[in-house]
Amino acid sequence: MDSEPSVVERIRRSRRRIQSESEDALRFLGRLRNARMVGAVAPSGPALARRIVSGIDPARGAVLEVGAGTGVFTAALIARGVPAEALTAVEADPVFAALLRARFPNVEIVEGRAEDVLGDGGPLADRRYADAVSGLPLLNFPPALRRRILEAIFARLAEDGALYQFTYGPRAPLGRGSLAALGLIAEPAGRVWRNLPPASVYRIRRTT
Ligand SMILES: C[S@@+](CC[C@H](N)C(=O)[O-])C[C@H]1O[C@@H](n2cnc3c(N)ncnc32)[C@H](O)[C@@H]1O
Repeated sequence: MDSEPSVVERIRRSRRRIQSESEDALRFLGRLRNARMVGAVAPSGPALARRIVSGIDPARGAVLEVGAGTGVFTAALIARGVPAEALTAVEADPVFAALLRARFPNVEIVEGRAEDVLGDGGPLADRRYADAVSGLPLLNFPPALRRRILEAIFARLAEDGALYQFTYGPRAPLGRGSLAALGLIAEPAGRVWRNLPPASVYRIRRTT
C-alpha cells in the first residue's frame, strides 16, 4: 500500500509546482510580443483547466486541443484519463510547440494555426476527433477568423462532438446569429472565479 508523502516531501512538491508555474508565467510574458495571438498575460489556472476538461469523456475517443500554450489543459486532459496517445495538441507559437513536445512526448503536437492544420489540405484534414478543447483567444480575432476556426474544428469533430471554449468576456465568443449560421449553439458550462481573470466555459455543439 502507498504511504502518504511526508510533510517535507509535500513542501518539496508544492515548491516545484510553484516554480514551474512561475516559469510558465514568465514564458507567457516572453511571448507577449504577439499579444493578440497569445491573448493572456499568464497561463490558465488549475481551476479553469479542471472545469474546461470536465465535460470530456475519455471513453469517447480521440481528443483535439487547440491553442495549447504551455500545456495547462493538456495536463488536465491527461489527468482526466485521456491517454496521451489519443490527444492531438495544435499550437501556433513555435516556442510553445517545442515546450509541449518536451513536456508531453506521447502527445501528438502539431505546430501551426488551427484554421490551417485542421482545414482541407492541412496535415490533420483526414482526422476525426470525439471532442475538442480550446485555449484560443477567440475574442482577439476578427469575426471572420473566429468563424473559419470553428468551421475547421467542427469539420474534424464527430457528429455529436463538442468544443469546450473559455472566454473572459461576458458572453460566448461568437454571437448566437453567427453560431446559428454555422449550425452551432453555445451553452454555458460553468463560471470559474478562481482564475485570473475569472473566465466562463462554453460547450459549443451542432444544433442537429
Ligand atoms: C490564451 S493562450 C492559452 C494557452 C493555454 N491553453 C492556457 O489556457 O494557458 C492562447 C494560445 O493559443 C495559441 N494560438 C493563438 N492563435 C492560434 C491559432 N490560430 N492556432 C493555434 N494556436 C493559436 C497562442 O500561441 C497561445 O499559446
